[in-house]
Amino acid sequence: MNTPAPRYSRITGTGSHLPPRRLSNDDMVALLAARGVETSDAWIVERTGIRARHFAADGVACSDLALAASRAALQAAGRRAEEVDLIIVATSTPDMVFPSTAAILQHKLGVAGCPAFDLQAVCSGFVYALAVADAMIRAGSARCALIVGAEIFSRILDFDDRTTCVLFGDGAGAVVLEASPEPGILASDLHADGRHVGILCVPGTVAGGRVSGDPLLKMDGPAVFKLAVGVLDSTARAVLARAGRTEADLDWLIPHQANIRIMQGTAKKLKLAPEKLIVTVDEHGNTSAASVPLALDVAVRSGRVQRGDTVMLEGVGGGFTWGAVLLDF
Ligand code: UT7
Repeated sequence: MNTPAPRYSRITGTGSHLPPRRLSNDDMVALLAARGVETSDAWIVERTGIRARHFAADGVACSDLALAASRAALQAAGRRAEEVDLIIVATSTPDMVFPSTAAILQHKLGVAGCPAFDLQAVCSGFVYALAVADAMIRAGSARCALIVGAEIFSRILDFDDRTTCVLFGDGAGAVVLEASPEPGILASDLHADGRHVGILCVPGTVAGGRVSGDPLLKMDGPAVFKLAVGVLDSTARAVLARAGRTEADLDWLIPHQANIRIMQGTAKKLKLAPEKLIVTVDEHGNTSAASVPLALDVAVRSGRVQRGDTVMLEGVGGGFTWGAVLLDF
């Protein structure tokens, strides 16, 4: 007899990890001054809300950050690595060109056999990965998924470009997503528009035995800002409509942590009280695919996001990609 596919998926545990080296804005001012590049704590705070970020030490790989976050999420879910039957790592800073960071993470977790793959949607990566895992669980092809966002952006920053290097940081966040008779994930909404590839990219690649092209991050900040403000609002409304909910049902908004002005603008358009907006960009900077699961874990462990709360997760970034997942925690 066939077992019917479970109707829903639900987050059963969250975890995160930040590398110990914390750089305040003043540390960045000093680091850049040594290169003849001028910035200030006042500019960074006023334009972005960022006060600090964490950078991984030399020799630490993306999979190491992912491993620490995964162990914390598995412990919170009361699951052993052996019980995981799907691993997805959202990252733009993988350990190597191939194999996937997910396969490396699987090995570091001491398990083998379940499908493991990376998902590349830059800062929207975790939201994409969660939507993919939800679909796989609802289709009956997985029951206990480990979904990770992990990044070491400090390795792809141009420290001579003050318009980008002060914005990003390293870290990882993870969730365990399990089959459930109750929701769980209510709806998701994903998009991409490749016409905007050039406004946020790392254009280099590996060819002929060496790096070809520029392997450092390039961003047209104002262009990204303008697009982000529009799509974060449209995807929020789309995912609410798809789930048959309204803004008034939201307990928490956890948008991609890139710029406090974009985040507050999104919350305001949704008529959400400012305290319902989870903010970690001040302490983490922009950790790309790690930012949403990091912020979720901080919100859960601080007791703000509780079982049954309705939470909206939103991603936006290179590609251009964007999307949202609405869930009952
Ligand atoms: O992760 C994917 C999603 N990413 C985002 O959502 C990022 C979206 N973009 C942004 O957050 C903002 O556009 C930035 C924070 C990147 C830039 O803020 P802005 O208010 O758009 O500033 P701007 O780029 O228009 O630059 C304003 C001024 C310029 O000087 P002038 O030309 O007016 O004299 C820049 O040269 O600020 C200057 N500036 C800086 N000054 C001190 C740029 N970066 C710095 C800096 N320190 N680090």
